[in-house]
Amino acid sequence: MSRVIYVNGSYCAYDEAYVHVEDRGFQFADGVYEVCEVRNHRLIDETRHMQRLVRSLNELEIKQPMSLKALGMVMRETVRRNRVRDGLVYLQITRGVARRDFIFPHADNPCSVICLARISSFAKADALAEQGITVITLPDIRWKRPDIKSVSLLPNALAKQQAKRAGAYEAWMMDEDGNVTEGSSSNAYIVSSDGNVITRPAETGILRGITRSVIFDLAEREGIQIIERPFSLNEAEQAREAFLTSATSVVLPVVRINDRTIGDGKPGALASKLRALFHTQAEIAE
Ligand code: PDD
Repeated sequence: MSRVIYVNGSYCAYDEAYVHVEDRGFQFADGVYEVCEVRNHRLIDETRHMQRLVRSLNELEIKQPMSLKALGMVMRETVRRNRVRDGLVYLQITRGVARRDFIFPHADNPCSVICLARISSFAKADALAEQGITVITLPDIRWKRPDIKSVSLLPNALAKQQAKRAGAYEAWMMDEDGNVTEGSSSNAYIVSSDGNVITRPAETGILRGITRSVIFDLAEREGIQIIERPFSLNEAEQAREAFLTSATSVVLPVVRINDRTIGDGKPGALASKLRALFHTQAEIAE
């Protein structure tokens, strides 16, 4: 089946899906994006993803190109045309095409909107979750606004590549105080010896993950305490459990950080429970 990508109002064949070379997304990483999980043809947590998208657009003073309802229709149609039952949908909005200039073009300059959808294997993800993953740590070299979900992802890509080279699944980035900020494409958590989940506050140097926010609601429902505070690498190495969250990996237990085994080296009970229950708490769109 040939893939279809939405580009500025048209559903194009994969090989014909282009944006202009002077798109500001291309020249300045001047754009934002969202990734939603697709499960059984349905969008997961669409409302929260769209709220975050609007926030990212506002922070960068990019005018919202169409209503959230219309963006939702584009995402659904892209999922439908690509026959994605389980996978993800990616939506990207940039400040559009303009003669290269650091100064923004006029506010009426049309944004570029692209949307793609693709299938992913939940069986593979489940197998990974049953085994647990390894993460490495490295310095967080990103700009100071990771709360904006911008397409400026070069440091994240460098970190992920380094993880892959080391045989790890993810890289946890560290601030100058030796505390973990987040993963290159996920949020980071540990579980203390008394069974509390610890994760960095969303206000300081991380993306406010949508999966993270659903995990907070789920934890409250299940009587699990989450403490928002920075944690160090040293503390993570001593933790009972560690895990990460993102829209594409949901919850993944971490069983090794660098060359240190976490807990007994098997996926933690709490992380596995949160993974198993996640979709009982998430919003499943019509
Ligand atoms: N990444 N932190 C970073 C730096 C991320 O890139 C992501 C998501 C997250 C988790 O956010 P959420 O729970 O809303 O997915 C945290 C997406 C999946 C990506 O770029 O592909």
